[in-house]
Amino acid sequence: MSPINKDDLLNVAIEAALAASNLVMEASDRPRVANHKGITDLVTETDLKSEKTIKAIIRSFYKDHTILAEETGQDTNISDYLWIIDPLDGTTNFVHGYPSFAISIGLFYKNEPLVAVVVEMPNMRMYTAIKGQGAWCEGKNINCSDTKSLERSLLVTGFGYEHGENWDNNMNLFKQFTDDTQGVRRLGAAAVDICHVAKGVADGFWEYDLKPWDTAAGILIAKEAGCMVTDLSGNQFDINDNNILITNGHIHQNMVNNIERYLN
Ligand code: IPD
Ligand code: CA
Ligand code: CA
Repeated sequence: MSPINKDDLLNVAIEAALAASNLVMEASDRPRVANHKGITDLVTETDLKSEKTIKAIIRSFYKDHTILAEETGQDTNISDYLWIIDPLDGTTNFVHGYPSFAISIGLFYKNEPLVAVVVEMPNMRMYTAIKGQGAWCEGKNINCSDTKSLERSLLVTGFGYEHGENWDNNMNLFKQFTDDTQGVRRLGAAAVDICHVAKGVADGFWEYDLKPWDTAAGILIAKEAGCMVTDLSGNQFDINDNNILITNGHIHQNMVNNIERYLN
């Protein structure tokens, strides 16, 4: 049981996410200059400013908590509380002005997700969750879909920046699932994709090569909305796993069976 009240923790996460999302939205109207972390892996001044803002707000409340953030890594604090931050999920979309990007803040207590916030932009929808209490979008309770079969499902996936073996596997899976379902979407912001499954507007999400900050908030929002969350083999998901499968539960095993054929 966390000694700090969960609502208080969530309120800090919300304050940080809203400050950062306002900053990102203001920047989205100005020219956006990207630097390259890899050939296709972009970072902008806005990623850095957003991260600085989120960290400063969390630090102003909880100076001893550990923070792991995409652009600056993990600090040296040793604490049961671990904040995992993606200051701008979907940077490539942000740079091009494509309308799907997000702020993602997940708080773990003793290695278990405790509270989470994702702000989807540019439509400014806030998804929140508290362990054991539920998941919400704009304050309204959300639940995953009740779609029973793969044939009736709409799926979503993403492709990481490494164009290696997993990339090829995912291309094959993309084709397979496009054949077997009502469609597969590829929007480019994993945190948003996961929230869409939690909200029931998509039935399943899978991806290879993700990092903890892509999934830290989303997994709690998804679980609290009734989703099943595993790795791509159907085993229990650990935040350090780099592949993930999130579904409404009904289609999970069928997806695992298909994915099995393309796992290395
Ligand atoms: C990326 C997005 C994308 C996913 C990549 C991530 P970033 O995050 O979530 O949807 O396919 O694997 O790295 O770099 O924009 O924060
Ligand atoms: Ca990300
Ligand atoms: Ca990012």
